[in-house]
Order: sequence, then structure tokens, then C-alpha cells
Amino acid sequence: MPAFSARAPGKIIFFGEHAVVYGRPAIAVPVEQVQARAVVIPDPIAPRGRVWIQAPDINLDCALGELPEDNALRQLIQLLQAHFKIDHLPACTLRVSSSIPVAAGLGSGAAISVACLRALSAFLGAPLVVEHVSALAYEIEKIYHGTPSGIDNTVVAYAQPVYFVHGQPIEFLSIRQPLTLVIGDTGRSSPTSGPVGALRQAWLENSQPYEALFDRAGEIARSARADLEAGTISHLGRLMDENHALLVQMGVSSPELDHLVSAARVAGASGAKLSGGGWGGNMIALVEPELAEQVSTALLESGASHTLITQVRP
Ligand code: PMV
Repeated sequence: MPAFSARAPGKIIFFGEHAVVYGRPAIAVPVEQVQARAVVIPDPIAPRGRVWIQAPDINLDCALGELPEDNALRQLIQLLQAHFKIDHLPACTLRVSSSIPVAAGLGSGAAISVACLRALSAFLGAPLVVEHVSALAYEIEKIYHGTPSGIDNTVVAYAQPVYFVHGQPIEFLSIRQPLTLVIGDTGRSSPTSGPVGALRQAWLENSQPYEALFDRAGEIARSARADLEAGTISHLGRLMDENHALLVQMGVSSPELDHLVSAARVAGASGAKLSGGGWGGNMIALVEPELAEQVSTALLESGASHTLITQVRP
């Protein structure tokens, strides 16, 4: 019997993280160099419902039923069964692997969900369309992040640059000129729910200053969109710097992120900011292609656990 496999890319948030949770626009792009992969190997002998899970990256090798009730893969399979109105999956092994750092703002959770939904639905003989893949991955995000905007599952499922506003039809961005980004990892993992929850608490206590920060972040995302679509990218670095300053004021940066952002600018980046949830995880720097190696080296010398050079293409 053939195996069914699927992949999904990582992602970065270029502009507008956190403000996007409060209805402002944000821009995210896929990062193809890092991927999550799911493979379903049918088991023609074992009885229906006997599902074996293997995730060698996290030393997981057990029956589905042995996983805690709130485990993400278990929740995902329950959601999928409800979607297809079945009580059990046919017997199989689901093997999951990923080169996307976990809890680092690169969309690892959404990518694993998307890859698994695609591979499992193909195995069931009814491959999900991308809208359904994204919607089901959003349900999983909700279990883990409380109030996700939906940007992660969208950019990862569609694997295209998106201009995203919660609750509105997805708009894809046509980027006119290739961009080079250096991604630097603080090496500190930080689940998205931490900074998202703290910011919500601060906003509930005193919404007005945060609303002003979100408004400005939204304006920045709108300007960045216009620049990306017109191919006039000379202002983008400044917009990233300003967006980072807003994220600092929202309380979602960290000393490590600020340090890497400064190091990238000193090494010649046109602009830099944290990307994703913050408090740890990754930052991104916009660079001229010939400066990419130099900025990457500066980040590593400033404490980045690793770096990635990626191109956003038209
Ligand atoms: O999952 P992360 O860490 O890339 O962050 C997602 C972006 C946030 O705006 C912080 C949260 C959200 O749901 O949009």
C-alpha cells in the first residue's frame, strides 16, 4: 500500500504581529527552507482505530490513545474524524517530522497541523481543499493560543505571502521585487500564548495606549503593502524598525531580541524587528543580498543560536 505524505513551510510575520489579533492588518510570508512533514503509512492488518504516532524529533513513538487527551496530534485527529463524520481512522502509522524550530515564531505548530491534515485526508481518500486545511488548523491554534488571529494557519496552508485581516477574505500579496531577509534565532523558545496572554491582560486593564500602538502597527502594514506591491522597497527597513519599537512598547520583545535587532542594524541591515509572538524566538533583518552573510555572521557573534538567509520572491 502506498504511503501518503505532505509538507508545509514555516513562516515569518513581516509586519503587524500582535496588532493583528486586535483586527489590524498584518503581512506574513512563507519560509520554504524550513518544513514540517507528515507521512501516513497504512496498516492493512491491524484493526480500524489502531493509529500509531511517531515523531522522532521529540522521541515520540506510541499508540494514539497513549497520548494525553490535550495533545495537539490527538486533538487534530479528533477534529479530522469529526469533519469526516467517522469514529476512527483506518489503521495506520502517522510519522511527523519538522525542521522548523518549535515555539520560535516560525509557525511550527501550524505547519505540523497543515502537513498532518493533508497527509491524513489523502489517506482517507478525500484530500482536503486548502480552505478546509486552513480552517481546521485554525481550530488547533485556538486550543493552544486562546485568541489566535488566524494568520499562521493561513500563510502556512496557502504557502503564499498574505496581507491578513482577521475575519476578512484573504488577500495575497504580489511582491514586485525580491527581498533578502536574515532570520536570527535567540535560541530561547517562547510559546506564543505567553506574550499574547500578557498583552491581552495589559490591554484589558488599560486599552487606550495599546489601541494607539495597534493603530500605528496597522498603518505600517498598509504602507509596507503599498511598497511591496509597487516594488519601492527603500522604506521597508525603516518601517520594520518602527514596527519593532511598537512591539517593544507592547511589552513583547526581550533583551535578546533587542540585542540581535541592534546587531543586525549595526552590521548593515536596512531594518530589523522581532517576528512572531516575541519574548524569544526569532527576529528578522532586511538586507541587500551582498550583505546577507555579513549580517548573519554578526547575529551569530551576538548570540544567535542559528541564522537563516531567505528570499521573498515575486
Ligand atoms: O505563532 P507566532 O509566535 O508566530 O505568533 C503569531 C502572531 C501573533 O500575532 C503574535 C499571534 C496571532 O495569532 O496572530
